[in-house]
Amino acid sequence: MPDSTGRADDRLVARRLDADEIADFHDVAAAVFFNRPGPQERRRYLDRFGSERFHGVFHRERLVGGGGAFARTITLPGERQCPAAAMTGMSITATHRRRGGLTALVRAQLDETYRRGEQPISILLASESGIYRRFGYGIATRQARIRVPGRAAFRPGLDTDGLVDEVECAPDDPRLLLPYTEVSAQRTGWLQRDHRHWAQILGADAPDDPPRFAVHPQGYAVYRVAPAFNDLGAACTVTVVELVAATPQAYRSLWRHLLDLDLVAEIAVDSVAPDEPLLDLLSDLRAPRPQLSDNLWVRVVDLERALGARRYARPVEAVLEVTDRLCPWNQGRWRLRVESDGTANAHPVTAAPHLRMDIADLGALLLGGTRLGTLAAAGTVDIVDRGVARDLSAAFLEDREPHCPEIF
Ligand SMILES: CC(C)(COP(=O)(O)OP(=O)(O)OC[C@H]1O[C@@H](n2cnc3c(N)ncnc32)[C@H](O)[C@@H]1OP(=O)(O)O)[C@@H](O)C(=O)NCCC(=O)NCCS
Repeated sequence: MPDSTGRADDRLVARRLDADEIADFHDVAAAVFFNRPGPQERRRYLDRFGSERFHGVFHRERLVGGGGAFARTITLPGERQCPAAAMTGMSITATHRRRGGLTALVRAQLDETYRRGEQPISILLASESGIYRRFGYGIATRQARIRVPGRAAFRPGLDTDGLVDEVECAPDDPRLLLPYTEVSAQRTGWLQRDHRHWAQILGADAPDDPPRFAVHPQGYAVYRVAPAFNDLGAACTVTVVELVAATPQAYRSLWRHLLDLDLVAEIAVDSVAPDEPLLDLLSDLRAPRPQLSDNLWVRVVDLERALGARRYARPVEAVLEVTDRLCPWNQGRWRLRVESDGTANAHPVTAAPHLRMDIADLGALLLGGTRLGTLAAAGTVDIVDRGVARDLSAAFLEDREPHCPEIF
């Protein structure tokens, strides 16, 4: 449609999608991600996600992209549960890229998340690592991709208990739910799940390739096997979807079970924490060849609530000067005060800052997996008072590396 100057209006505009528009968005997103969903997969998607918040991006009334925000709950340091807007399916159709569509979409999503006041942070897994820092997301957790040779030995003296069994499991099986519920409440970066998430993780969308299950009284492993047989014999690959253990004994026993499967040349896991205990159990520590990459990106949407949502390792008081281009309500100087019990609050102040940083750096720090000193060494955080910065760094850190084991 030409505007008053006679030119066609070429802007891309983002707005909330109505329930009856979600199917169209699903088709656009499927094409962007090179999928050709059949009618069943399409219906499953809509059944599962129809009620979530989706935005569409429009060019002259034509839907050319969009994205959704799932309501999830994430574990923050100190075993605190925090609501999070989990961004998903961010897509702009190939003919309309680099025209500000994603920018309009993220802006609309962040504005709405803040306005609703339910989720102080937004989280996502990025298809490419160059996209999201400009929108205030920081790398809060990292992941390692590992490949372990079959039959790889543990260091001497590490026993297992022989309590692992191979079974069939439905998505609501307590042998999965109980260990997951216990562990996910303790591990920073893990997400709480409902039946829809379990169905997705256990491959309801790929009924032709159901996973296998190994269970232990305190844990389980979900895995798939790619059969491979050649002139030299068997060389199958086991891909671990997830291995969850509430005790070290269960952890070692489940791993031993997978490592000792006959006919298997390699056990592959695409995402474990960088400090995955397996890396310390193997007698050949170099065998898994870990490859590090970004995992969960965190965007602080409501600074005051986000900083108060976690626990900290030690008391500290610091004034942070924060820049935030997209969410101006976060911009300014904030006094973060951590009490001796690890609780904290943040208030706007005018006092001189001890540190200056972008909101993306605060997102990177929030889960305790990124060191302040590393950001300062890279020059993205500006340290004015080194003593306060050292104390603040120690307060943010966690004992274990945070990690998000789930693709959403
Ligand atoms: C990634 C994608 C959504 C970007 O959409 P877009 O509408 O082209 O993005 P915009 O025009 O709003 O670009 C915003 C900025 O991001 C940059 N950008 C966009 N995609 C990028 C990429 N893949 N890598 C690095 N930078 C990227 C743009 O250059 C622009 O930079 P600027 O602000 O400095 O000018 C789109 O290319 C796409 O759908 N890709 C395939 C699916 C995908 O990867 N989705 C992301 C899932 S997490």
